[in-house]
Amino acid sequence: MTYRSPRAAVLTGLGSWLPPDTVTNADLEATLDTSDEWIRSRTGIATRRRVSPGVSTSDLAVEAGLKALKSSGSGGADAVVLATTTPDELCPATAPDVASRLGLSGVAAFDVSAVCAGFVYGLATAAGLVATGVADRVLLIGAEAFSTLIDPGDRSTAAIFGDGAGAVVLRAGDPDEPGAIISLVLGSDGGGNDLLNVPAGGARRRVPTEEHSRYLRMQGREIFRFAVRHMAAACATAAEQAGWQLSDIDRLVAHQANARISNALGDALGVPPEGRASNIEHVGNTASASVPLLLDEDNASGALSEGQRVMITAFGGGLAWGAATLVWPSLTTVA
Ligand code: UT7
Repeated sequence: MTYRSPRAAVLTGLGSWLPPDTVTNADLEATLDTSDEWIRSRTGIATRRRVSPGVSTSDLAVEAGLKALKSSGSGGADAVVLATTTPDELCPATAPDVASRLGLSGVAAFDVSAVCAGFVYGLATAAGLVATGVADRVLLIGAEAFSTLIDPGDRSTAAIFGDGAGAVVLRAGDPDEPGAIISLVLGSDGGGNDLLNVPAGGARRRVPTEEHSRYLRMQGREIFRFAVRHMAAACATAAEQAGWQLSDIDRLVAHQANARISNALGDALGVPPEGRASNIEHVGNTASASVPLLLDEDNASGALSEGQRVMITAFGGGLAWGAATLVWPSLTTVA
C-alpha cells in the first residue's frame, strides 16, 4: 500500500509513559532458567517495566495521551486511534474509554490491532482520517500491558516483552512542512500467523483448553529472519517514495524487538550506529508502544532534532510490517 495526499498529517505533539515497576534480568534469573549474560548478549535488554495488578492498557494510554495533547499545545483532537495488542476487554474497543477519560467524549475512537507494527498501521490510519477530512487532529496512542499475555514460565518471551505507552498528535497540514508524513508503506503475510500468537481467548477457541494457550507463543528465530528482510524492504520503498536515498536517513527509529535485529537492519540500510535510535536496554519490546516511546525519548534527549530526515519502521506478529518517513519538526517534550 502506498500513501499520497495533498492534505498531510503533520506531527505536532508527543508523549509517553512507563509504569513504575521495573523487572531486572536478575529478577528473571531468580525464577527462570536464564542469565543476565544471555539476555543482554542475545537481546540487548537489561530491564523492562511491568504494570502492577489492576493497572491496564487504558491507564497507560491515558497518561501518554495527556502528555501528547499538552505537547501539541492543545487539549483537543477529533479522533483517538489506539494501537494495542492488549485491549482492556475483548469487546468493546478500549479507545472510546481512553477518549472519554481524556475529556474527548464524542470524538471518533477505535482500536488498531497489528501487534508490534501497530503504531505504523495506526499512523497510516491517522493519516487517512486527516487526508479524507474526517478528522483535523488525531491522537494516536500505542499502549501495551503486554506482560498480561506473558507466560511467567516461558523464558523466551518473559525476558523480552515490557509494558508502556507512547502517543503522538497529528494535525492537518501541508505536505512540504516539517513533521508531515511524507510516505507510508504497509505489508502483511498471514502465512506467518502462528509464528506469534495467543491461541485461546478469541473466536476460534474462546476458552483455554490448557493453561498455556491463553499466553503468547513466539517462534523467535523464524520471526528474526523475516524481520530484517521485510523492514529493510519497507524502508527502501518508503525512502524511494519520499525521493530520498538510503544515505539521506539521519535517524532510523525501528521497533525495538531485539538489539541484534535493529543493528542488522541498520547495517542493511547503511545507517551508521550513531544514527540508530535505541532504548531497548531499559524498556524491552513494548510492541505497539515501542516506536512512539522511542520518538518521545529521543526528542527529549535531543537525539532527534529539527530538520533530521527520520525513517520509522516496525515489524511483528500477523505477520505485519511497515515504514514511514518524515522530516523532524520542532516539538515540545512534556515531563
Ligand atoms: O516484536 C516483534 C516480534 N518478535 C520478534 O521480533 C522476536 C525476534 N526474535 C528474537 O528476538 C530472538 O529470536 C529471541 C531473542 C527470541 C531468541 O534469540 P535467539 O538467538 O534466536 O535464540 P533461539 O530462539 O535460537 O534459542 C537459542 C537457545 C535455545 O536453547 P536450545 O534449544 O539451543 O537449548 C533457547 O531455549 O536459547 C534458549 N533461550 C534462552 N536461554 C536463556 C531462549 N530464551 C532464553 C533465555 N535465557 N531467556
